[in-house]
Amino acid sequence: MKIGVFDSGIGGLTFVKELFNLVSNIEVVYFADTLHMPYGNKSKEYIMNRAKIIINFLKSKDSELIVSACGTVSSVLPEFQNYENIIGVVKSSCLKASQITKNGNIGIIATELSIKEKYYEKILSNLNKNFNIYPKACPELAEIIENNNNLSNQDFKYIKSCVSIFAEKNIDTLILGCTHYPIVKKVITKILKGIKIVDSSIETAKFVSKILKERENSDFNYNQKKIDIYASNLTDEFKINAINILSSDVSEMFFYQGAVNTKQEVKIKLK
Ligand code: DGL
Repeated sequence: MKIGVFDSGIGGLTFVKELFNLVSNIEVVYFADTLHMPYGNKSKEYIMNRAKIIINFLKSKDSELIVSACGTVSSVLPEFQNYENIIGVVKSSCLKASQITKNGNIGIIATELSIKEKYYEKILSNLNKNFNIYPKACPELAEIIENNNNLSNQDFKYIKSCVSIFAEKNIDTLILGCTHYPIVKKVITKILKGIKIVDSSIETAKFVSKILKERENSDFNYNQKKIDIYASNLTDEFKINAINILSSDVSEMFFYQGAVNTKQEVKIKLK
């Protein structure tokens, strides 16, 4: 089975990593829209336009299933026609949060546009209208994570300023509503001791792996985990970050610049 996955940058690879942990035979075509990142501070119309172009590209690569591994795009997915065919990260995360919260106080951290669109809030309220929901935008966090292999003291301070407001809200569950955030999950867990963290990449990977297992058939003949990574701005830093996230889980990884398969940059065969 070949699936298409996209995000503004490396964030969606946290979803791919989790999927590779759950499914043994899979081929992924990944598109990172690094030239237009961050998505979180752009308009809804801009993001929808980018997403449509990328979805068409992934379809042209014969993706049988498409995953928007991006909280920001997933927050505007209901605005798309036929969006049911595209899997986002919001629903699975909200479902998990609704299952594990004990006191019904749930925090969400995500990009500005995701918080503005209120889709996480809407899905949580649909699951239980008595939940107290505390959304918090972290406008700079996705970009900090994208551009830094190592976090500086200032970055730590920024993360702290994003999540410390939850201490006084008595939340017991926090949704990481942006797929970049699992990369700094350890830092967040350390600041918010005792709070259950919902990782949208893990929850979405569980959901997608179920679909893939249902669709699996006898002529399903891949026996490896392969990924072709396209980036609209393929930098060395992006490649290093991608390799760091995925290397132990993948058997073959290729990088390409842009949305056309003309310039193969790197071929990495790890196993
Ligand atoms: N990983 C994207 C998300 O989940 C990052 C968005 C951005 O580029 O601002 O929202």
